[in-house]
Amino acid sequence: MPHPDYPHLFSPITIGTFVVPNRVCHVPTDISSANTDGSVNQRVITYHEQIAKGGCGFIIVGASTPDRSAGRPTVTCLVLDEDPMIPGLAELAEAMHRHGARCAVQIQAPGRQAAWPRKGLTSATDQVVELPGSAGHEVVYAEEIAKGKSIRAMTVDEIYELVEKFAEAAWRVQQAGFDAVELHGAHGYLIAQFLSPYVNRRNDRFGGTFLNRVRFPLEIMDRIWRKCGRDFPVGVRYSGEEWVPGGRTIDESVKVAQLLEQQGAAFVDISAGIFEAPGAVMDPMYYPQGWNTYAADEVKKAVSIPVITSHTLRDPAYCERILAKGRADLVGLSRQMIADPYWANKAYARRPEEIRKCISCLVGCWQESLMIKRHMRCTVNPAVGDERFIHLAPATNKLRVAVVGGGPGGMEAARIATLRGHRVTLFEKTGELGGAVLCCCAVPGKQKMRWYADWQRRQLAKLGIEIRYRCQPAAEDLRAYDAVILATGGAVHKPDVPGIDLPFVLTFEDVLRCRLTKCEFHPGDRPAPAQCGDRVLVWGDHFAAADAAEKLGADGKQVFIVTENAAFAAWMEPCHRDVMNKRFAGGHGEGLRGKTITPPVTVITATTVTGISPGGVVTLLDSRFHKSSLQVEHVVLAAVEPAAGPYDELLAAGTRVVRIGDHRRVRNLRAAVTEGADAGLTLDEGWTLNANLALISRHPTEIGLAQS
Ligand SMILES: Cc1cc2nc3c(=O)[nH]c(=O)nc-3n(C[C@H](O)[C@H](O)[C@H](O)COP(=O)(O)O)c2cc1C
Repeated sequence: MPHPDYPHLFSPITIGTFVVPNRVCHVPTDISSANTDGSVNQRVITYHEQIAKGGCGFIIVGASTPDRSAGRPTVTCLVLDEDPMIPGLAELAEAMHRHGARCAVQIQAPGRQAAWPRKGLTSATDQVVELPGSAGHEVVYAEEIAKGKSIRAMTVDEIYELVEKFAEAAWRVQQAGFDAVELHGAHGYLIAQFLSPYVNRRNDRFGGTFLNRVRFPLEIMDRIWRKCGRDFPVGVRYSGEEWVPGGRTIDESVKVAQLLEQQGAAFVDISAGIFEAPGAVMDPMYYPQGWNTYAADEVKKAVSIPVITSHTLRDPAYCERILAKGRADLVGLSRQMIADPYWANKAYARRPEEIRKCISCLVGCWQESLMIKRHMRCTVNPAVGDERFIHLAPATNKLRVAVVGGGPGGMEAARIATLRGHRVTLFEKTGELGGAVLCCCAVPGKQKMRWYADWQRRQLAKLGIEIRYRCQPAAEDLRAYDAVILATGGAVHKPDVPGIDLPFVLTFEDVLRCRLTKCEFHPGDRPAPAQCGDRVLVWGDHFAAADAAEKLGADGKQVFIVTENAAFAAWMEPCHRDVMNKRFAGGHGEGLRGKTITPPVTVITATTVTGISPGGVVTLLDSRFHKSSLQVEHVVLAAVEPAAGPYDELLAAGTRVVRIGDHRRVRNLRAAVTEGADAGLTLDEGWTLNANLALISRHPTEIGLAQS
């Protein structure tokens, strides 16, 4: 019987020799969580098993290398280059099959984009490039000359050796019981380097003409079938458009699909970009849902094998429409499965509002994990890489807990603590939960942040948590609680310079306020956002500064950002930074359309403000002690420091209290949510503060640190 809401999403499809129970596909995601030798471990199994349990029909395991000596895309990706890997891979396949999913492994040689080894890389060509968005860039690409980076074009013999290794790797995957393999020909990794008219500068039989550039994956496919049998399904992932001048465009990508089908490929998986255009590969928050589906749409018109589409697909209803219109055969979700592995089940159960949507921040899963050689985590889903959050153990000692601050950290602490059985009261000084997340919602293209706030609000309401709005409790109001979690977030930093209190000196909060002065949370008491004149100086180097500049720039203001640092937003996730800088320059990120920022934003680096005159003249001093001045109509303060809170008083009074998120140290959403989750989890029997004033429980010594 067709599903009443999503009849296409929950209909089966045949891929090669097997049937996939529904159209939901986990597109390959290298979670970089394998053992050092690249073998499967429990982290890898748990991650994929949760997604299978969550009802996903087809799971493609992320980039796995056929030859560790030729390189790994991340330092702990899966490795397929020897037979002892087979038992672990078999356990992985079983863990997915057990829950009805079909599964494949993506085979990838990284070529120029190897995170490891760091030297002596081989590629289609010897072109050295800087790719700040790619994993491992900080070692391989930053100051690559000083670090002796070298890339060498592969010889024809080496190419055929690697072809053989791809086939061997596919054979191991098949032996382990997987249903298929996928070749990774996207995102500028080795196969993409050969396919690309932009990267491939060879003039032998593997470069130059279209057929020569496609030869490498075709040789691999052929070799795989000789080893694994002609009916073993092989799919190919590649980018519909590379989004660089001289790169492959959709017309040629359609030809690639036709050729692959003709040669016997079981499916094509249409991705986007190469790392010269990082926003297309790892689309930031600005990108609208389904922006890349046009590419699958074009390919689908030209082939009859299944076509997978991906990139910023979040809503089941949206995905259903893609399938209903015949634009693709399967919808591919990567980060959405990280944020909520139970996406398919929630849609199937007709509870889409329960889905914890990925906000595309790329902080947990990329910037603070794969890019810096860590196992993958997630900003909004603390259970990724931490099994303690999958099956929350009920607290043995139920406590009365006060959480002060209803931002993301406070909400997560309240949620986890309540799920474990504690009695939680959440205090919020405004009339609305969300904290700093709400500031982002005022920024064009960042409304996805709202999804997280809405999801948390719904969860807290469902759990029946007591929420006291418009309430800032003092230390004595909190004494009755067994534990206090302070999550009061950050506040604007007001530097001590002449003119700082002038009326046209605003804060980022004044500017980033919601346009709605009346809503269910604010029946009329919220001031409207401040209106700025045409020339505005934004002073700071934090999300607050980037967001204020984006918002004001989009409103048509002439914005000047002043930062003491050598570059603005060096802390920002690089794909976001790339797109933001393109927008600040008056352009767009790849694939984005619509309103641009005009006039462009001017960034003044290595400079500080030394004074503001009543007439609006701001004096600036740069790191070489050169003075200059700017005439503006408004100054927006956008540096952030921890907000005030009764921490010291509570400690002095003997109350057990911890600080989390920006209230502890100004960072980002991931830090707030992770610390909120940790605090909610740690409160338990024998809980106390250790000598670092961190919350611990079940203290394993006999010294009886403190009483609980
Ligand atoms: C942490 C991470 C790892 C990824 N690993 C792979 C990979 O191994 N192979 C691949 O083809 N794409 C990889 N991607 C790209 C995703 O498959 C996907 O195309 C991209 O994230 C956009 O889709 P999404 O909005 O559903 O995340 C990765 C993305 C992320 C965030």
